[in-house]
Parts: sequence; structure tokens; C-alpha cells
Amino acid sequence: MSGLQFPATAQDWRAQARGRLPRFLFDYLDGGAGDERTLAANVQAWGQATLRQRVLVDVSQVDTRTRLAGQDCALPLALAPVGLAGMMARRGEAQALRAASGAQVPFTLSTVGICGLNEVCAAAPAGAPPPWFQLYMLRDRGAVRALLEQAWQAGCRTLVFTVDLPLPGMRQRDVRNGMAHRGARAALLRASQLLARPGWVWDVALRGKPLSFGSLASQVPGGRDLNAFKAWVDAQFDPSVTWQDIDWLRTQWRGRLLLKGLLDVQDARAAAAAGAEGIVVSNHGGRQLDGVAATAEVLPAIARAVGGQLEVLVDGGVRSGTDLFRALALGARGVLIGRPWVWALAAGGEAGVRQLLAAWQRELLLAMTLTGVTRVADIGPEQLDRVSSQIRP
Ligand SMILES: Cc1cc2nc3c(=O)[nH]c(=O)nc-3n(C[C@H](O)[C@H](O)[C@H](O)COP(=O)(O)O)c2cc1C
Repeated sequence: MSGLQFPATAQDWRAQARGRLPRFLFDYLDGGAGDERTLAANVQAWGQATLRQRVLVDVSQVDTRTRLAGQDCALPLALAPVGLAGMMARRGEAQALRAASGAQVPFTLSTVGICGLNEVCAAAPAGAPPPWFQLYMLRDRGAVRALLEQAWQAGCRTLVFTVDLPLPGMRQRDVRNGMAHRGARAALLRASQLLARPGWVWDVALRGKPLSFGSLASQVPGGRDLNAFKAWVDAQFDPSVTWQDIDWLRTQWRGRLLLKGLLDVQDARAAAAAGAEGIVVSNHGGRQLDGVAATAEVLPAIARAVGGQLEVLVDGGVRSGTDLFRALALGARGVLIGRPWVWALAAGGEAGVRQLLAAWQRELLLAMTLTGVTRVADIGPEQLDRVSSQIRP
């Protein structure tokens, strides 16, 4: 789309973000693992659910409001945790929190957010709910305890605990862009990509400092730049974590616990047994193991197995308010969105995220209206005409 046109869809925001971000950052945001098959399947699979249009139903009072993790929301959607979002726009997480508060949806702050817990909580308008906080299990359990305490003191009451990252996935675009390389060649490549985006350099790199992992500042005291923080985090991923550690975590966290990154019915049952209040059916947006199922495919069976015991949320490839409706019809209580909000943030800042959310709310309302449902709680499989065999019934 041309720079003068107005973005209407998530893809339009993506196109604008591509024009604004240095290549290595756009690719980090946009890409997935391996050949990106799961990334593509996530997006495509929602389209396999065909909606059932109904007419001449009284739809003069359609209400998109609901509750997620005990919080009133204008629509069943939360912003997913996205690491380094503050590299995509100046003080990006604080802007996104304000947009989410304005739209009355939860915002999740990543462990590796540029803005820290205190900065993001301070950005919330008076009376707005605090963000959800996302955490990985770190080798240093003392650091985990300290972060939980920091989150609690900052007012967070919902912990999104990510369990699908015992090791980082193979993100080939990052390799091509020299993200894992040091030395002159990688520096030259980086410099050429930065020179092509002087607006970003001025707005974010120079005026958006400090560019470090805000919530981890007290854990990495000597950390002077992003590389030092990244090295600390990379050394902290803990592949030895098991359900016993979740039991331990449950004793450490008094608030709500959502486990994020499950794709299997058995794991979902274990999450319920471990005392989680909810799960996020997720493959990390296709960024971890390329070749696993699209989330839409596994959602119905998981929702049927544990939907009565805990809140089943889903993410991955949701690209419109209509996709959101499909996710609910397939059994989810709500969705998280990752890339779409960050594309809108990169291209339009807080106002961009607000526009995206307003458009999706209108789309959801339209889908409810034309399928003849007036309340979010009533959206279910009856609103689907047909589901392709790709989605496990
Ligand atoms: C650039 C990027 C960074 C991410 N960082 C995190 C993170 O720090 N913690 C986490 O739990 N998930 C992270 N995710 C996964 C998202 O929370 C979410 O599961 C995924 O983006 C959903 O797919 P979608 O982007 O297709 O909506 C990240 C995703 C992207 C695209």
C-alpha cells in the first residue's frame, strides 16, 4: 500500500511497519522458525472454519464485552507478550499499554520487554488495570522469585508463564541478518540496514533510550547494552523444567497463573491438575518448532478436554476480528495477538494499536450480528457452517 493510504487490515499495518523498521528488526518480528510452515499454517487454518450466516434474528443489542482472567474486557482479546517491542517504536511497551487500556483489553509485558514493569505500570491511566506479566523459567530461581515479587509490587495479578521455550527456536531470518554474528561483516550488514531507515534511528535508537531489558535491570547489574542482557537471558533458559517446577511456581505466585505454549490435550490436563487458572494454546507464533500443528487445529480437542476446568485462550495467526470469532466458535474463551499489535505499533504508535483494536472490535461485532449471536458467551460451534478436516473435531 502507498504511504498515503490508511491502513485497514493487519496486513496493511504490516506493510507500513516493513517500510519503517530496519530489515533485521522487521524480520525478527515477522519471521518464524525453520521453513516457516507452522507460521503460515497458523494464519491459514482459521480460514478453514466457515461461518454460518443467520438472518432475521433481533441483533439490535450485540455486546462484545467479556471477562478474561477475571478482568473486564471490551472484547475477548489480549495483547500477547512480545520481546523487544520497545525496539519497534519509542518506549513501545508503554505506548501499547496505553492503547490497550484505552481499548479496554489486557496488555502482557514480556520478560524481555524494553520498558520495565515499573515504567509500564506507571504508563497506565488512573484506574486502569495493571498489565499481565509474562515470565520464562530461569535457571536462577532466586531471579524468578525476585521478578515475581517485582511484578506483584508493581500491581500485576496475572502471570503468563511461558513453557514452550526450553531452547530458542531456529529463526533463520535472524541468522541471515547476522543477529547471532559479531565482527565486521555483521556490523556492515547492520549499518547498511540502519542507514536505509534514518527515521527509525532518530525516533527509536536515539530518542528511545535506554534500549535494555527494563524488568531485568536489577538482575543484570553490570549490563550496559542490549547484548549483555541478551547474553544473560540466553544463559538462563532452563531446559530441565518439569511440572514439578510448576508446582513450585504455584507456591510462589499468589495471583492468577496462565500457562502459555501448550498444544497437547495431555499437557492441558496436567496444567489443570497443577492448579493453573488458564492456558494459552500456542506454538509461540510458529517461532519454536516448525512442523507442529496450527493452533486452530488442536484447539477444539483441548477446549473440550479442559474448558470446563480452566480458561482456554489461544494465539497464533489471528489476523482479524473474524478470526477472533472463529477462535471462540472453536472453543476458546479469548485470543492473544502478537505480530498484529506490534506491526500497528511500529507503523502508528499508540494510535495505530488503538485503530487496529477498534477495527477488530467492529469486525467481531459484525460477525456476531450476521451469525445471530448477541453475547460473547453464546458463540460456539453452532455458529460454524463447516470445519475442514484439517481441524480435529
Ligand atoms: C517478535 C516476537 C517476540 C515474542 N516474544 C515473546 C516473549 O517474549 N514471550 C512469550 O511468551 N512469547 C513471545 N512471543 C510469542 C507471542 O507471545 C505469541 O505467542 C505469538 O506472537 C502469537 O502469534 P501471532 O504473532 O501470529 O499472533 C513473541 C512473538 C513474536 C512475534
